[in-house]
This record gives sequence, C-alpha cells and structure tokens, in this order.
Amino acid sequence: MDNREAGRYWNDVAEAWTALTRAGFDVFRDGLNTPAFFSTIPDLRGLKGADIGCGEGHNTRLLAEKGAQLQAIDISEIFISHAKATEMASPLGIQYQVASATALPFGEEQFDFATSFMCLMDMPDPELALLEAFRVLKPGGFLQFSITHPCFDNIARKSLRDEHGMIHAIQLGPYFQTVNGELFEWTFNDLTEEWKHRYQKFKVPYFNKTLTEWVNAIMAAGFAIEMINEPKATDEAVKKYPLLRDAQSFAYFMHFRCRK
Ligand SMILES: C[S@@+](CC[C@H](N)C(=O)[O-])C[C@H]1O[C@@H](n2cnc3c(N)ncnc32)[C@H](O)[C@@H]1O
Repeated sequence: MDNREAGRYWNDVAEAWTALTRAGFDVFRDGLNTPAFFSTIPDLRGLKGADIGCGEGHNTRLLAEKGAQLQAIDISEIFISHAKATEMASPLGIQYQVASATALPFGEEQFDFATSFMCLMDMPDPELALLEAFRVLKPGGFLQFSITHPCFDNIARKSLRDEHGMIHAIQLGPYFQTVNGELFEWTFNDLTEEWKHRYQKFKVPYFNKTLTEWVNAIMAAGFAIEMINEPKATDEAVKKYPLLRDAQSFAYFMHFRCRK
C-alpha cells in the first residue's frame, strides 16, 4: 500500500474521528499521550514549528498556545478542512495545508522544531518522513514525535484480564512479521449506543516496525536521539479516566525527541 492509498483511508474516517475526539472519547490521547508529550517538550515560546500529520489540529492548537508559530500538514483534506474551520473561528495564527509527510511543502532549514503526534506509524515509509523532517529543520532544531509502542502494539494484540478486569498480560502476534497496510477496524472505547450508531468503526491501514528499525531510521535520517519516553498513566489520570488503568501496566505509546 502506498501513501496516497493509506491517506484515502484516513480521509474516509476523518469526519468520525473529528466528531468523536472532539466529544472527548479519545481518553488515551487526552489523559495520557498528549499530557506526557507536553511534559517533556522544550520551551516553544517564539519558535517556528511544523506539525506533521496534524489531523483536525487538536495538538497543533496546544503547541500554538505554548507560544509557537505553527505550520501544519495532513494528508487528509477533510481533517485539514476541520482544522482550518477551527482556526477561522478561534485564530491562533496556524497555517494548515494538505500534504504528505513524505513530501513536505516547505523549504530547507525553515523550522526550529517539528512535531508529529501518532502519525508516523500510520504510513508505509516513515523513513522518508524522518528524512523530510530533518531537511526542513534548522541545524540544532528538534523533532519530537509519538507513535504506538513498537513492542506492545501489534495487530493481533489481545489484553488478558483477571476476574476483576485487571490486565495481567497481553497476547501479541509475531514481532518480526512485517505488516504492510493490512486493514484494521477499531473505534474508541466506551462509545454510547447513540455514537456507535452515528459513526462506523474506523477502518485504517496498519503498518509495523520493530524498535530497532525505528531507532535505526531516526539515526539514518541524521538525527541524534536525545529523549525517549514510554508514558505511564498517573493515579490522578486513572481516577478521571478509568480506562487508563491498563496504561499503568503496559506502555501503549513511545515518544522520541531527536536533534538535528
Ligand atoms: C492517529 S491520527 C493523529 C492525528 C493528530 N496528529 C492527532 O494527534 O490528533 C493519524 C494522522 O496521520 C495522518 N496521516 C497518515 N498518513 C499521512 C501522511 N503520509 N502524511 C501526512 N499525514 C498522514 C492521518 O490523516 C491522520 O490525521
């Protein structure tokens, strides 16, 4: 599967994704992944940044609220139209464009930093996207990105629970087997019947890389890795979002900060 075809699947789910995330159903993003990402990001005040694979712009807006000047791209026209509409309604100075992470519409050495939230594992060739991020960063600039955890996320993943519903193990399919765009259907947990009826499950392509492949791709692009993080849910977050209890046992996501 190539980028364009993968992008079409994302465009097809963009309407549902935007509505459900804005209704608060992405608790792994809101209670765990995004707070962890922002807890480690350097001071952004006055910096010029690119957000790669911005979706409807939720995290891009948070970056802008930290004082950065943002340009953001996504391969999906529908996501970008929602992001632009929100920018029109509540301007933060963000410029959005439809583009692929593998062919950024920016010149060389334009940005102090780049971010990518949960996007690079959703494409067939993240190696190219890493090279592109490197190209558009100024020397000394950084790329910070999040992905599903290469060791604990797996297309055949199953959570094994005890009689109290506590996760005690996860069952995984083969770690070294390459999955290249197999379609995977899922939706957010805890949707009410009304929401389930309103929107079909997301059907998006799944790609995988081992941890070694990710680290080697980052270094092959020219970056030095300066921070990694495997977000763990806090007790406070679990109190607010009980679904996050599983994320006190296993790492669902992995974050990297890489320096040019
Ligand atoms: C899991 S969503 C995350 C969206 C957003 N970053 C967020 O955190 O809310 C993955 C995003 O990657 C985008 N995407 C997939 N392939 C892409 C590509 N080649 N170039 C740019 N964006 C891409 C999808 O359209 C989608 O918006």
